[in-house]
Amino acid sequence: MQCMGGAVTDVDEIVRTVLATRKYRSVCLDTVWQIARRELVRHGDLKKALKGTKSRLHQFYGAFEREMDYEAAISHLDAAFKTGSGSAIEETCREILRMHQSTAERLPILDEFYAAIWTLTGVPHSLLDLACGLNPLTLSWMHLPVGAQYFAFDIDVRRIAFLNRFFLLAGFPPLATWQDIVCHPPQTNADVALLLKTSPTLERQEKGSTRRLLQALKTPFVVVSFSVKSLGGREKGMPAHYERAFLAMMKDEPWQVSKLTFETELVFVIGK
Ligand SMILES: C[S@@+](CC[C@H](N)C(=O)[O-])C[C@H]1O[C@@H](n2cnc3c(N)ncnc32)[C@H](O)[C@@H]1O
Repeated sequence: MQCMGGAVTDVDEIVRTVLATRKYRSVCLDTVWQIARRELVRHGDLKKALKGTKSRLHQFYGAFEREMDYEAAISHLDAAFKTGSGSAIEETCREILRMHQSTAERLPILDEFYAAIWTLTGVPHSLLDLACGLNPLTLSWMHLPVGAQYFAFDIDVRRIAFLNRFFLLAGFPPLATWQDIVCHPPQTNADVALLLKTSPTLERQEKGSTRRLLQALKTPFVVVSFSVKSLGGREKGMPAHYERAFLAMMKDEPWQVSKLTFETELVFVIGK
């Protein structure tokens, strides 16, 4: 796909306007640029394309986000790590994980979630967490080996800065990167990649992007998951719908796909 580059004045104008808003000031420039470009082609009119860009961003980003006080969160984490108590650290992480719907829904299943996934993939020494949200704060439940590398990617720069401070507190190298994974699929070699609850979002950004991303990744295992509830909390037959759509997406690939079903999340482990 084509991402940022060239001199397209109207696209630049939309990008500037969108990034000046409080709601979207943290979003990756590449992400806004490629949506603005597409909306401009679609509408052929600056005003309509600006409205369309904001509306698309709301659908896949704004609707999930709540304003978060990262400074307060980091000082709570700092205090918890200073106690040296594993349970104090986990409790503080739980409080912060509650602030994003995707991780809030994962809290009741955390004790079994990674244990079941690692049974299929092996415990990773290197991990990619794609479109990670706040998920790196589930680190305590992953039981990664000493010296493991945790690469995290997201389009939200404030979240990435926060995650790198968290990694340092947790004794991990600060490997969170501000990167649009549709524009630039990560090329880092690692044992496992997580793409949790983000495939529908990526498909809204560009149809077919999940499959292209999976093809581009250089990891032997990719874990793709789906929420079993809609944003409004209703189930609406979503697991069956996601399973059908995902298996259709995978049908021409020679990969082995295993399914794990949790109370709040449907998971597919792909062996490439
Ligand atoms: C539904 S949340 C899922 C978060 C996390 N994977 C989890 O399951 O807890 C989607 C996340 O994807 C990020 N995101 C959306 N589009 C992206 C893209 N093209 N590249 C990188 N991150 C993206 C958003 O900022 C948000 O943090």
